[in-house]
Amino acid sequence: MKICRTVEELLSNVNTLKQSNKTIGLVPTMGALHNGHASLFVRARKENDVFISSVFVNPVQFNNKEDFEKYPRTEENDIRLLEENGCDIVFIPTAEEVYGNEEIEEFHFGELEQVMEGIQRPGHFSGVANIVSRLFIWTMADRAYFGEKDYQQIAIIKDMVRQKGFNIEIVPCPIYRDEDGLATSSRNMRLSEDARKIAPKIHQILLNSFRQKDNLSINQIQAYVEDEFKKIKEFELEYFCIVDDTTLQPVKQRQINQGIVGCIAVWLDGVRLIDIQRYW
Ligand code: PAJ
Repeated sequence: MKICRTVEELLSNVNTLKQSNKTIGLVPTMGALHNGHASLFVRARKENDVFISSVFVNPVQFNNKEDFEKYPRTEENDIRLLEENGCDIVFIPTAEEVYGNEEIEEFHFGELEQVMEGIQRPGHFSGVANIVSRLFIWTMADRAYFGEKDYQQIAIIKDMVRQKGFNIEIVPCPIYRDEDGLATSSRNMRLSEDARKIAPKIHQILLNSFRQKDNLSINQIQAYVEDEFKKIKEFELEYFCIVDDTTLQPVKQRQINQGIVGCIAVWLDGVRLIDIQRYW
Protein backbone atom coordinates (compact mmCIF):
# COMPACT_ATOMS: atom_id res chain seq x y z
CA MET A 1 0.00 0.00 0.00
CA LYS A 2 1.31 3.44 -0.96
CA ILE A 3 0.91 6.19 1.59
CA CYS A 4 0.59 9.60 -0.09
CA ARG A 5 0.77 12.68 2.09
CA THR A 6 0.80 15.32 -0.63
CA VAL A 7 -1.56 16.04 -3.52
CA GLU A 8 1.43 15.90 -5.87
CA GLU A 9 2.30 12.33 -4.82
CA LEU A 10 -1.32 11.27 -5.13
CA LEU A 11 -1.70 12.83 -8.58
CA SER A 12 1.44 11.23 -9.93
CA ASN A 13 0.29 7.75 -8.77
CA VAL A 14 -3.23 8.25 -10.10
CA ASN A 15 -1.97 9.52 -13.47
CA THR A 16 0.06 6.38 -14.00
CA LEU A 17 -2.92 4.17 -13.14
CA LYS A 18 -5.31 6.08 -15.38
CA GLN A 19 -2.89 5.77 -18.31
CA SER A 20 -3.31 2.02 -18.10
CA ASN A 21 -7.13 2.37 -17.97
CA LYS A 22 -7.54 1.03 -14.45
CA THR A 23 -10.88 1.60 -12.73
CA ILE A 24 -10.56 3.38 -9.41
CA GLY A 25 -12.80 2.96 -6.35
CA LEU A 26 -12.58 5.55 -3.56
CA VAL A 27 -13.62 5.34 0.09
CA PRO A 28 -13.22 8.72 1.83
CA THR A 29 -12.91 8.54 5.64
CA MET A 30 -11.91 10.59 8.65
CA GLY A 31 -9.96 7.70 10.12
CA ALA A 32 -10.65 6.07 13.51
CA LEU A 33 -11.48 3.15 11.27
CA HIS A 34 -13.72 0.28 12.36
CA ASN A 35 -15.64 -2.60 10.80
CA GLY A 36 -18.27 -0.23 9.39
CA HIS A 37 -15.58 1.42 7.27
CA ALA A 38 -14.16 -2.01 6.43
CA SER A 39 -17.49 -3.06 4.92
CA LEU A 40 -17.02 -0.23 2.40
CA PHE A 41 -13.39 -1.24 1.78
CA VAL A 42 -14.49 -4.78 0.85
CA ARG A 43 -16.88 -3.41 -1.79
CA ALA A 44 -14.35 -0.98 -3.25
CA ARG A 45 -11.67 -3.69 -3.36
CA LYS A 46 -13.98 -6.16 -5.13
CA GLU A 47 -15.54 -3.82 -7.68
CA ASN A 48 -12.49 -1.91 -8.97
CA ASP A 49 -8.97 -2.51 -10.28
CA VAL A 50 -7.59 -0.02 -7.80
CA PHE A 51 -8.85 0.81 -4.32
CA ILE A 52 -7.95 4.21 -2.90
CA SER A 53 -8.92 5.51 0.53
CA SER A 54 -8.34 8.77 2.35
CA VAL A 55 -7.88 9.49 6.03
CA PHE A 56 -8.45 13.15 6.80
CA VAL A 57 -10.22 14.78 9.73
CA ASN A 58 -11.72 17.59 7.70
CA PRO A 59 -11.74 20.79 9.82
CA VAL A 60 -14.24 22.66 7.62
CA GLN A 61 -17.07 20.19 8.30
CA PHE A 62 -16.95 20.59 12.09
CA ASN A 63 -19.20 23.23 13.63
CA ASN A 64 -17.21 23.36 16.78
CA LYS A 65 -13.52 23.46 17.39
CA GLU A 66 -13.63 21.24 20.45
CA ASP A 67 -15.44 18.48 18.53
CA PHE A 68 -12.73 18.68 15.85
CA GLU A 69 -9.92 18.54 18.35
CA LYS A 70 -11.51 15.65 20.25
CA TYR A 71 -12.02 13.56 17.12
CA PRO A 72 -10.02 10.31 17.61
CA ARG A 73 -6.82 10.01 15.56
CA THR A 74 -5.57 6.43 15.23
CA GLU A 75 -3.32 6.55 12.17
CA GLU A 76 -1.28 3.43 12.86
CA ASN A 77 -4.37 1.31 13.34
CA ASP A 78 -6.05 2.90 10.29
CA ILE A 79 -3.08 2.03 8.08
CA ARG A 80 -3.14 -1.55 9.33
CA LEU A 81 -6.88 -1.99 8.67
CA LEU A 82 -6.53 -0.51 5.17
CA GLU A 83 -3.61 -2.79 4.41
CA GLU A 84 -5.57 -5.82 5.62
CA ASN A 85 -8.37 -4.86 3.26
CA GLY A 86 -6.17 -4.67 0.18
CA CYS A 87 -6.00 -0.91 -0.17
CA ASP A 88 -3.61 0.23 -2.93
CA ILE A 89 -3.20 3.89 -2.04
CA VAL A 90 -4.12 5.83 1.08
CA PHE A 91 -4.10 9.62 1.00
CA ILE A 92 -3.30 11.15 4.41
CA PRO A 93 -2.86 14.90 3.91
CA THR A 94 -2.60 17.77 6.38
CA ALA A 95 -5.23 20.53 6.38
CA GLU A 96 -2.57 22.84 4.95
CA GLU A 97 -2.05 20.45 2.04
CA VAL A 98 -5.78 20.28 1.29
CA TYR A 99 -6.80 23.92 1.82
CA GLY A 100 -3.46 25.77 1.89
CA ASN A 101 -3.68 27.96 -1.19
CA GLU A 102 -7.26 27.45 -2.25
CA GLU A 103 -10.47 29.24 -1.35
CA ILE A 104 -13.00 27.25 0.58
CA GLU A 105 -16.01 27.01 -1.66
CA GLU A 106 -19.51 27.62 -0.37
CA PHE A 107 -21.94 24.95 -1.46
CA HIS A 108 -25.73 25.21 -1.26
CA PHE A 109 -28.09 22.27 -1.36
CA GLY A 110 -31.50 23.93 -1.01
CA GLU A 111 -34.15 21.86 0.72
CA LEU A 112 -31.80 18.85 1.01
CA GLU A 113 -29.89 20.67 3.74
CA GLN A 114 -32.89 22.28 5.41
CA VAL A 115 -33.70 19.10 7.31
CA MET A 116 -32.13 16.89 9.99
CA GLU A 117 -28.30 17.13 10.12
CA GLY A 118 -28.43 20.24 7.95
CA ILE A 119 -30.40 22.10 10.64
CA GLN A 120 -28.45 20.72 13.58
CA ARG A 121 -25.04 21.35 12.02
CA PRO A 122 -25.02 24.57 9.95
CA GLY A 123 -22.26 24.63 7.31
CA HIS A 124 -21.46 20.96 7.87
CA PHE A 125 -22.51 19.73 4.44
CA SER A 126 -20.77 22.56 2.61
CA GLY A 127 -17.63 21.42 4.45
CA VAL A 128 -18.21 17.80 3.44
CA ALA A 129 -18.73 18.83 -0.20
CA ASN A 130 -15.47 20.81 -0.11
CA ILE A 131 -13.33 17.85 0.81
CA VAL A 132 -15.23 15.22 -1.17
CA SER A 133 -15.22 17.27 -4.39
CA ARG A 134 -11.44 17.73 -4.08
CA LEU A 135 -10.94 14.01 -3.44
CA PHE A 136 -13.03 13.17 -6.51
CA ILE A 137 -10.83 15.40 -8.68
CA TRP A 138 -7.50 14.27 -7.22
CA THR A 139 -8.23 10.53 -7.24
CA MET A 140 -10.07 10.53 -10.62
CA ALA A 141 -12.25 7.80 -9.08
CA ASP A 142 -14.82 5.97 -11.20
CA ARG A 143 -16.84 4.99 -8.13
CA ALA A 144 -17.04 6.29 -4.57
CA TYR A 145 -18.52 4.38 -1.65
CA PHE A 146 -20.54 5.89 1.19
CA GLY A 147 -22.40 4.34 4.12
CA GLU A 148 -26.16 4.70 4.50
CA LYS A 149 -25.64 5.42 8.19
CA ASP A 150 -24.99 8.98 7.01
CA TYR A 151 -28.04 8.90 4.79
CA GLN A 152 -28.32 12.63 4.21
CA GLN A 153 -24.62 12.85 3.36
CA ILE A 154 -25.19 10.53 0.38
CA ALA A 155 -28.01 12.73 -0.97
CA ILE A 156 -25.79 15.80 -0.55
CA ILE A 157 -22.87 14.18 -2.33
CA LYS A 158 -25.07 13.05 -5.22
CA ASP A 159 -26.26 16.64 -5.55
CA MET A 160 -22.70 17.98 -5.39
CA VAL A 161 -21.79 15.56 -8.24
CA ARG A 162 -24.74 16.91 -10.25
CA GLN A 163 -23.78 20.55 -9.54
CA LYS A 164 -20.16 19.95 -10.56
CA GLY A 165 -20.94 17.69 -13.51
CA PHE A 166 -18.55 14.99 -12.24
CA ASN A 167 -18.54 11.64 -13.99
CA ILE A 168 -18.48 9.33 -10.98
CA GLU A 169 -20.81 6.67 -9.63
CA ILE A 170 -21.90 7.12 -6.01
CA VAL A 171 -22.39 3.71 -4.41
CA PRO A 172 -24.52 3.67 -1.23
CA CYS A 173 -23.63 0.80 1.14
CA PRO A 174 -25.81 -0.72 3.88
CA ILE A 175 -25.17 0.02 7.55
CA TYR A 176 -22.79 -2.39 9.22
CA ARG A 177 -23.95 -3.33 12.73
CA ASP A 178 -22.45 -5.04 15.75
CA GLU A 179 -24.08 -8.36 16.60
CA ASP A 180 -26.54 -6.68 18.95
CA GLY A 181 -27.69 -4.32 16.18
CA LEU A 182 -25.86 -1.13 17.14
CA ALA A 183 -24.54 0.64 14.03
CA THR A 184 -20.75 0.70 14.37
CA SER A 185 -19.32 4.17 14.87
CA SER A 186 -16.12 5.67 16.25
CA ARG A 187 -18.37 7.40 18.81
CA ASN A 188 -19.47 4.07 20.33
CA MET A 189 -16.10 3.87 22.09
CA ARG A 190 -17.12 6.88 24.19
CA LEU A 191 -20.14 5.08 25.68
CA SER A 192 -19.89 3.74 29.25
CA GLU A 193 -20.38 0.02 29.72
CA ASP A 194 -23.97 0.56 30.86
CA ALA A 195 -24.80 2.93 28.01
CA ARG A 196 -23.30 0.51 25.51
CA LYS A 197 -25.85 -2.09 26.70
CA ILE A 198 -28.74 0.31 26.14
CA ALA A 199 -27.55 1.62 22.74
CA PRO A 200 -28.82 -1.36 20.65
CA LYS A 201 -32.36 -0.32 21.64
CA ILE A 202 -32.12 2.37 18.96
CA HIS A 203 -32.09 -0.25 16.22
CA GLN A 204 -34.60 -2.46 18.08
CA ILE A 205 -37.18 0.33 18.39
CA LEU A 206 -36.80 1.24 14.72
CA LEU A 207 -37.04 -2.40 13.69
CA ASN A 208 -40.20 -2.84 15.79
CA SER A 209 -41.74 0.18 14.10
CA PHE A 210 -40.79 -1.31 10.72
CA ARG A 211 -42.55 -4.58 11.57
CA GLN A 212 -45.79 -2.69 12.27
CA LYS A 213 -45.59 -0.36 9.30
CA ASP A 214 -48.42 -1.89 7.31
CA ASN A 215 -50.88 -1.40 10.17
CA LEU A 216 -49.85 2.13 11.09
CA SER A 217 -50.12 5.56 9.47
CA ILE A 218 -46.94 7.62 9.08
CA ASN A 219 -48.07 9.71 12.08
CA GLN A 220 -48.53 6.57 14.13
CA ILE A 221 -45.06 5.28 13.25
CA GLN A 222 -43.71 8.66 14.31
CA ALA A 223 -45.63 8.57 17.60
CA TYR A 224 -44.65 4.96 18.30
CA VAL A 225 -40.93 5.69 17.95
CA GLU A 226 -41.12 8.89 20.01
CA ASP A 227 -43.06 7.11 22.78
CA GLU A 228 -40.62 4.20 22.91
CA PHE A 229 -37.70 6.60 23.36
CA LYS A 230 -39.54 8.49 26.09
CA LYS A 231 -39.85 5.24 28.04
CA ILE A 232 -36.06 4.89 28.32
CA LYS A 233 -34.82 7.73 30.49
CA GLU A 234 -31.19 7.45 29.36
CA PHE A 235 -32.13 8.52 25.82
CA GLU A 236 -32.75 12.05 24.64
CA LEU A 237 -34.25 12.05 21.18
CA GLU A 238 -32.91 14.90 19.06
CA TYR A 239 -34.95 14.12 15.95
CA PHE A 240 -36.77 11.28 14.29
CA CYS A 241 -37.84 12.21 10.77
CA ILE A 242 -39.76 10.06 8.33
CA VAL A 243 -38.72 11.33 4.91
CA ASP A 244 -38.83 10.65 1.18
CA ASP A 245 -35.75 8.56 0.36
CA THR A 246 -34.60 10.94 -2.41
CA THR A 247 -35.78 14.47 -1.57
CA LEU A 248 -35.39 13.91 2.21
CA GLN A 249 -38.51 15.98 2.78
CA PRO A 250 -40.88 14.89 5.57
CA VAL A 251 -43.68 12.60 4.49
CA LYS A 252 -47.20 12.85 5.90
CA GLN A 253 -48.80 10.21 3.73
CA ARG A 254 -47.12 7.69 1.47
CA GLN A 255 -47.61 7.98 -2.29
CA ILE A 256 -47.73 4.83 -4.42
CA ASN A 257 -44.22 3.36 -4.83
CA GLN A 258 -42.65 6.10 -2.72
CA GLY A 259 -39.40 5.11 -0.99
CA ILE A 260 -39.43 6.16 2.67
CA VAL A 261 -36.77 6.12 5.39
CA GLY A 262 -36.75 7.12 9.03
CA CYS A 263 -33.65 9.00 10.17
CA ILE A 264 -32.80 9.42 13.82
CA ALA A 265 -30.33 11.28 16.03
CA VAL A 266 -30.37 10.44 19.71
CA TRP A 267 -28.22 11.35 22.71
CA LEU A 268 -27.03 8.69 25.11
CA ASP A 269 -24.46 9.20 27.84
CA GLY A 270 -23.32 12.49 26.26
CA VAL A 271 -22.77 10.80 22.90
CA ARG A 272 -24.80 11.62 19.79
CA LEU A 273 -25.75 8.51 17.83
CA ILE A 274 -27.44 8.36 14.42
CA ASP A 275 -29.16 5.53 12.58
CA ILE A 276 -31.75 4.93 9.87
CA GLN A 277 -34.54 2.51 9.08
CA ARG A 278 -35.97 2.00 5.61
CA TYR A 279 -39.74 1.45 5.67
CA TRP A 280 -40.50 1.17 1.96
P1 PAJ B 1 -16.47 8.91 8.42
O1 PAJ B 1 -17.41 9.25 9.53
O2 PAJ B 1 -15.09 8.45 8.74
O3 PAJ B 1 -17.18 7.84 7.52
C1 PAJ B 1 -16.59 7.39 6.33
C2 PAJ B 1 -17.61 6.54 5.60
O4 PAJ B 1 -17.89 5.35 6.35
C3 PAJ B 1 -18.96 7.27 5.42
O5 PAJ B 1 -19.46 7.03 4.11
C4 PAJ B 1 -19.83 6.61 6.47
O6 PAJ B 1 -21.21 6.63 6.15
C5 PAJ B 1 -19.28 5.19 6.45
N1 PAJ B 1 -19.64 4.46 7.69
C6 PAJ B 1 -19.36 4.80 8.98
N2 PAJ B 1 -19.90 3.89 9.83
C7 PAJ B 1 -20.54 2.97 9.06
C8 PAJ B 1 -21.30 1.78 9.34
N3 PAJ B 1 -21.52 1.37 10.58
N4 PAJ B 1 -21.81 1.09 8.30
C9 PAJ B 1 -21.59 1.51 7.01
N5 PAJ B 1 -20.89 2.61 6.69
C10 PAJ B 1 -20.37 3.33 7.69
O7 PAJ B 1 -18.42 10.42 6.69
C11 PAJ B 1 -17.30 10.87 6.83
O8 PAJ B 1 -16.28 10.18 7.48
C12 PAJ B 1 -16.90 12.22 6.30
O9 PAJ B 1 -18.01 13.08 6.31
C13 PAJ B 1 -16.29 12.15 4.87
C14 PAJ B 1 -17.29 11.63 3.84
C15 PAJ B 1 -15.03 11.28 4.87
C16 PAJ B 1 -15.86 13.58 4.43
O10 PAJ B 1 -14.96 14.13 5.32
